Amino acid sequence: PACPPAVQALIEQHRHIPGGLLPLLHAVQDSQGHVAPDWVPAIAQAFQRSRAEVHGVITYYHHFRQQPAGRHVVQICQAEACRACGSGALTEAAERILGTPLHSTRADGAVTLEPVYCLGLCAQSPAARVDDRPVARLTAQRLQALAAGWGP
Ligand code: FES
Repeated sequence: PACPPAVQALIEQHRHIPGGLLPLLHAVQDSQGHVAPDWVPAIAQAFQRSRAEVHGVITYYHHFRQQPAGRHVVQICQAEACRACGSGALTEAAERILGTPLHSTRADGAVTLEPVYCLGLCAQSPAARVDDRPVARLTAQRLQALAAGWGP
């Protein structure tokens, strides 16, 4: 399947910019919410790279999503300061509370659980981002309360 017109337009805007591949991928994710594997061939061709190279860039950066996200997105910081303050245990609790493993979307599409790497809230760890809002010192109880209204 071909790229949506919006993705094609972004490719055209970025293809002649030196080092434009990464900014393009950010722009695609910002506008579409993810970078679908189906769009990689057109991107690779425009930037004269192999599909494997473009795929490699997408998978190297944790930021890029290859599938659409759920209606809610919980991102828990996995960087050093937050790891030291219990983000590992919080992530395990979140997997139970939200009913989906890290890096995945629950089957009913209600919620996606993802890692992030430092949100600049290291002094208030463990930090998270919930539906694009930063949340300092997230606890399992607080997450449970937040998620209570997220039915299927
Ligand atoms: Fe988690 Fe910086 S390490 S916010």
